[in-house]
Amino acid sequence: MRILFFLVLSLAVLSFSQTLDSIHKELLVKADASVEQAAVKAQQDPLKPLFHLATKANWINDPNGPVYFNGEYHMFFQHNPYGDKWGNMSWGHAVSKDMVTWQHLPIALTPNPGSYDKDGVFSGCCVIDKGVPTIIYTGVNPEVQCIARSYDNMRTWEKYEGNPVIAKPPVENVTGFRDPFVWQDGNEWYMVLGSGIKDVGGTAFLYKSTNLTDWEYINPISTGFGSMWECPNFFPLGEKWLLAVSPYGKVQYTLGDFKDNKFNHGLWKPMDLGERSGFYAPNCLVDEQGRRIIWGWITGGGTEGYSWNGMLTLPRVLTLRDDQTLGIEPLPELSKLRGKHYQYSDVAVGSDDVFVLPDFSGNSFELIADIDLGTARQTGLDVLYSKETESGTRIEFDNIQLFFNAGEASAPFQLLPDEKTLRLHIFVDRSVIECYINGRECITIRTFPRNKDMQKIRLFSKKHKSIFKTIDIWEMNSIYQ
Ligand code: FRU
Repeated sequence: MRILFFLVLSLAVLSFSQTLDSIHKELLVKADASVEQAAVKAQQDPLKPLFHLATKANWINDPNGPVYFNGEYHMFFQHNPYGDKWGNMSWGHAVSKDMVTWQHLPIALTPNPGSYDKDGVFSGCCVIDKGVPTIIYTGVNPEVQCIARSYDNMRTWEKYEGNPVIAKPPVENVTGFRDPFVWQDGNEWYMVLGSGIKDVGGTAFLYKSTNLTDWEYINPISTGFGSMWECPNFFPLGEKWLLAVSPYGKVQYTLGDFKDNKFNHGLWKPMDLGERSGFYAPNCLVDEQGRRIIWGWITGGGTEGYSWNGMLTLPRVLTLRDDQTLGIEPLPELSKLRGKHYQYSDVAVGSDDVFVLPDFSGNSFELIADIDLGTARQTGLDVLYSKETESGTRIEFDNIQLFFNAGEASAPFQLLPDEKTLRLHIFVDRSVIECYINGRECITIRTFPRNKDMQKIRLFSKKHKSIFKTIDIWEMNSIYQ
């Protein structure tokens, strides 16, 4: 009798997972068709970025599950296949050999109606479990943690029949329970999970497992400001550990020591000086060379109605500098995208003067400027500058503060004793600007220059002269090659 019962039960589970799987496949075909249809319009928008990873069409948010496997880098992302606003949360998918050029693949995961992820396949990560790529994500509603595996080199995904693997939060009164970030240490898997506890604040829970399906709750890794920490990232960097959280505002990170499952953290700092709209919900991987590479979601609206919305940042290499602070640089291999080169040296800009760079004009380029500040009080440049309207996007430094786009963002910044010049490493990509400053700060800004003549670069200096020792500019090629 008992055997018969288990047989019937297993058959029921098997046929449920088969139906779930075949329905999932049909839904993915429908979702991909919707994206293809919208792509015709999206591709025509001259503000769609050339060298930032975006969807073929429709909405994108968080980068999910970046991972290196079998000679390829995979990037997944929160994606609404059906429109250019948030909704129908699925995992879009792109693949790359070098994290520079990308190819879009079919959508990897989409919600199954009536199931544990009916209201969304939310953010998560991807790990390689004894050779089997395994995605760990949040299903909604309620928020539960789920897994999906691939047996065909990450081209298609099977949701695990035992989902959810974590069915409820470890404590009462949480404000959210999502976005698993998993890593391996010896034979154990560890997970931090984004949450918040009412009247306590943002929280990241720590779990462990030996098989990715059975999870044991350990303790909160950290608790603090805000009401909810989305998308925690937690990883070693040099001798330190870095925790980054997305608290519905600017992404904050802290460096600290992790021992015996306890994290002793330092000061919190923004990981990007822009507003939340510039950089949010990052996710990272360790690449083939052991470097820690991170991407964030660049939101900022402005293109609704054009059948696309948002993109990911460029890949950023994180390091622990000798002074135990965070180093942040664009992936050096991005230089593969460089096209025509323009070079200017020793350009002196007089006190309260401006200078529009001759020859160059464009809205998709990389620029590196080394500026000798001399005694200048305020210096910088305007990109996407229009001579006609005398407007552009301003990046300015006054010896103690950086200012972006007429006060849209600002941050304290001072040259260190061994830094001779201010180095601005800027990427302008039609409707987004990323600026890296002396390899230790970074800002992302959105802008929507629909006026076609916004293509010049203007240097300025106030109250004293500044010398732009070198300015290198490269036109940039598309990442879809
Ligand atoms: C962050 C976030 C995550 C969630 C996902 C849903 O932007 O809200 O917490 O998993 O987006 O799309």
